[in-house]
Amino acid sequence: MITPLYDLHGRQHSYLRVSLTDRCNLHCLYCNPRNHEVNYIPNGDLLTYDEIYRLIALFTGTFGFNKIRFTGGEPLVRNGVWDFLQSLQGLRKNSPFALGLTTNGTLLPGLVPRLLRAGVNRLNISLDSLREENFLSITGSGSFKAVLQAVQEAESAGFETLKVNCVVLRGTNDQELHAFVELTKKMRLIVQFIEFMPFSGNKWGTEGFISCNEMKDVINSIYELVPFRTDMGSDYFKVAGHVGAIRFISALSDHFCGSCNRLRLSADGKLRLCLFSSEDSLIDLKALLRSGATDTELEQKIQSSIGRKWAKHPSAETIETQYSQNMVKIGG
Ligand code: GTP
Ligand code: 5AD
Repeated sequence: MITPLYDLHGRQHSYLRVSLTDRCNLHCLYCNPRNHEVNYIPNGDLLTYDEIYRLIALFTGTFGFNKIRFTGGEPLVRNGVWDFLQSLQGLRKNSPFALGLTTNGTLLPGLVPRLLRAGVNRLNISLDSLREENFLSITGSGSFKAVLQAVQEAESAGFETLKVNCVVLRGTNDQELHAFVELTKKMRLIVQFIEFMPFSGNKWGTEGFISCNEMKDVINSIYELVPFRTDMGSDYFKVAGHVGAIRFISALSDHFCGSCNRLRLSADGKLRLCLFSSEDSLIDLKALLRSGATDTELEQKIQSSIGRKWAKHPSAETIETQYSQNMVKIGG
């Protein structure tokens, strides 16, 4: 029997984002800046694949979660990830759920068919620039060509959804909005323009921040964006004649907390109620798992914790000064 997981604000939760590792092979300015120290999770503190499997079985089987998305750091750098993804096929026969992966794409070329075989049907690839020089100044390293190749291979592979994530930074890649829109002309994918969010060490500030409204104005000076769908509080647009679409994630300027249906699980087994939750509010599911808790005890803990979820996240300024976390450890 499914027990839907409601918070005190009447929001049903049905989507779990699972960070598989806090390690990443890129150092994007907004997420994992190079000179910012990260206290990496020691291997022994990572949830094992068996533990992750058990929690996913519980969220999908007991609470009826219908979407699981793996994130990182970069999820594909974790050893054993491919066999783990494959192992979820059995679970999905009992309780079907959509399976997503968010990746920087650097390790993907040649492996896209394997992702599909493992049942991943919603793929998101981070790509913040279509110019190699800009790409390198944002990521600090990594093969631009590999990421482009990953996007191309994914586009012709037929995922249920394929998204390209572009965090827009004033003075860095904001000159490329039109080029990203142009990408949707021939490619059947969704470009997600994401507002730059504050996290520790990423030098967030009003100079670097561009709101989705401003992005839309810039784009509309050349293209006509036609709204065609709203999903989870954010709008999708199309340009006439383009096969792909555009989505804006206005996490700060026009938050969509009212429709939030997400929970996040860190690579060391902490449940995070909101992207911006403080570290001391996380719920340590790993401790429970390793103390021999039964499924019923885990369910009760999750159910009682969700009551603490706030109606909306604090302002950007408060987040920056009081709640700042390492984005690379959260997974977006
Ligand atoms: P799907 O809906 O599963 O395709 O996921 P997504 O597009 O949200 O996932 P992805 O991993 O590509 O994340 C893109 C970025 O948008 C991440 O930084 C997310 O945290 C952010 N984002 C997406 N939805 C929300 C939301 O509801 N609230 C906030 N604050 N940020 C969000
Ligand atoms: N602001 C906005 N989006 C971010 N992401 C990572 N860090 C930030 C940030 N500071 C996004 C990236 C990645 C996704 C998981 O999270 O686009 O693809």
